[in-house]
Amino acid sequence: MPRLLSGLQPSGQLHLGNYAGAIKQFLTLQDRGYESFVFVASYHALTSVRDPAALRTNIRQVVIDYLAFGLEPKKTHIYLQQDVPAVTELAWLLGCVCPKSQMDKAVSYKDKVAKGLPASLGLYTYPVLQAADILAVEPDVVPVGEDQRQNVEIARDLAQRFNHAYGRDDTPVFKVPEVMIQRGTAVLPGLDGQKMSKSYGNTLDPFLPEKKLRKTIMKIVSDSTPVEAAKNPDTDTTFALFSALAGADNPRTHELAEKYRAENISFGYGHAKQALFELVLEHFGPARQRREELMGDPGHVEQVLRDGAAAANQAAAAVVKNARHAVGL
Ligand code: ADP
Ligand code: TRP
Repeated sequence: MPRLLSGLQPSGQLHLGNYAGAIKQFLTLQDRGYESFVFVASYHALTSVRDPAALRTNIRQVVIDYLAFGLEPKKTHIYLQQDVPAVTELAWLLGCVCPKSQMDKAVSYKDKVAKGLPASLGLYTYPVLQAADILAVEPDVVPVGEDQRQNVEIARDLAQRFNHAYGRDDTPVFKVPEVMIQRGTAVLPGLDGQKMSKSYGNTLDPFLPEKKLRKTIMKIVSDSTPVEAAKNPDTDTTFALFSALAGADNPRTHELAEKYRAENISFGYGHAKQALFELVLEHFGPARQRREELMGDPGHVEQVLRDGAAAANQAAAAVVKNARHAVGL
């Protein structure tokens, strides 16, 4: 059975970009029979979240949202990063084969410091811990959004360096996984047209109460093309979000594109936004309902996490044992 691993940081409420870029792929692969490991990257979130109460709340919310979106604990092991201590041990072993120059070249550290995050050692070595998350459970694929491509490349590179230094030809220590990025939704725009991101305050949360959801969608920035003129769907944020949710090949998406292109006084951006609002409600209807139920069942959530951690610890134990032995410990 092929294996998948991925994770999201509990640094705020999940949004449509996380869903379209990452979670949707988890669901597709889960249904194709992948044995999946999907975790909450709590240690990574410490590089940006300094409020313990907020962190605690975010962690629980990410787990509930994973389940609400449709991850099934029978097929997907859901766990918290801090419940698998082998990961931090592996991070040290990997850090010792990682040239400092490789971290100097990583773009996300520079970007995040430029955005105002503290320039901590944790932030600097973030990709090494991410490599440990990945290599600990020996996945075949790591599905992520485009902005995570470099981090997964670094994980592949560290695995190869370690194998080269310590593996024997016939028995590499680490399995080298593939990165997997969804075409079409690799970078979803936010309400303001920039990349949708928790840290830009431009996100669309599909779990907002109906009224607030509509209000938020109506705030999406569009250009000033007059109602009666033809509009370009390919440069419009509302259309990009619609297409990411319905699918680029869906007849409803083609129909909407035609309405944009027609010179039609009775179709403006407001109509497109209304169509997106209705689509979000339709697409996430069952997820919204499940989320309500899960919020009232903390015992279930705890059980899911215990089972998930047991599976991840089991997978990681063998990998760490090999790695320790390989380096001479
Ligand atoms: P954020 O930028 O909101 O903090 P994260 O860095 O926690 O999001 O990303 C979690 C996952 O969601 C990653 O796989 C990332 O690539 C994906 N992702 C985040 N934002 C987007 C987006 N705007 N479009 C597509 N994928 C995204
Ligand atoms: N860095 C990822 C993000 O910001 C989260 C993450 C941590 C991750 N470890 C991972 C993603 C391992 C995939 C695999 O979204």
